[in-house]
Amino acid sequence: MEKCNRKSVNPIYSMCVQPSFIIGTNNEDGTDNFAPITWVSATQEESEGYLLVISMFGTKRTKQNVIRTGLLSVNLVSTEMLPLMDYFGTKHAIDGRKNDIEYGVSRGEILDIPTLDASRWVYECEVVRSVETGDSATFFCKIRNIQMDERLSPKDIFDIDLTVLDPVVYSGRYHSLDKMLGGIGDFCNPDGK
Ligand SMILES: Cc1cc2nc3c(=O)[nH]c(=O)nc-3n(C[C@H](O)[C@H](O)[C@H](O)COP(=O)(O)O)c2cc1C
Repeated sequence: MEKCNRKSVNPIYSMCVQPSFIIGTNNEDGTDNFAPITWVSATQEESEGYLLVISMFGTKRTKQNVIRTGLLSVNLVSTEMLPLMDYFGTKHAIDGRKNDIEYGVSRGEILDIPTLDASRWVYECEVVRSVETGDSATFFCKIRNIQMDERLSPKDIFDIDLTVLDPVVYSGRYHSLDKMLGGIGDFCNPDGK
């Protein structure tokens, strides 16, 4: 491998390779609301399964709804859903219902939350802890249910073919994936010896 020539710059960039999710929540009047959130990661509590770690800044409705209800759906964004993500992200709930475009909404299988019909992977989540840092809140969310695209049939928890899910990857710009390269161990022993 060749050495990469790097340059130091002002640390104003927060470039992470971010997954794209649309968060679904219940408004106070019983209607639903959706907004893209890409500050999403995961961690684990001892023998308690995975927790999603989701950060939201400011006073957006989605954040208020999560604080009020403790419930949210986390809908993976595939490339065909980009118009939805862009719309939900540029219209704020405070300016009215997000119904200028058509999209299908269902209720969760386990939790009473709105889910997006177009999403190929949906987490139904309940907040178990939150941490505030300045203007942001980070929610640790227990995954109560996963709805995955029926075309996936993983043989274990690591066997998820992202090319089937076709996720949007976000860096400040929208990207798509190329190909699946292999699994754990495939590269430390490439000759199979
Ligand atoms: C691609 C994209 C990613 C975003 N990621 C986040 C995020 O990780 N955290 C956050 O607080 N807001 C994020 N936003 C901003 C909210 O989605 C945006 O403010 C939205 O309009 C809020 O809607 P609401 O007022 O209905 O909650 C993102 C917006 C876009 C377009």
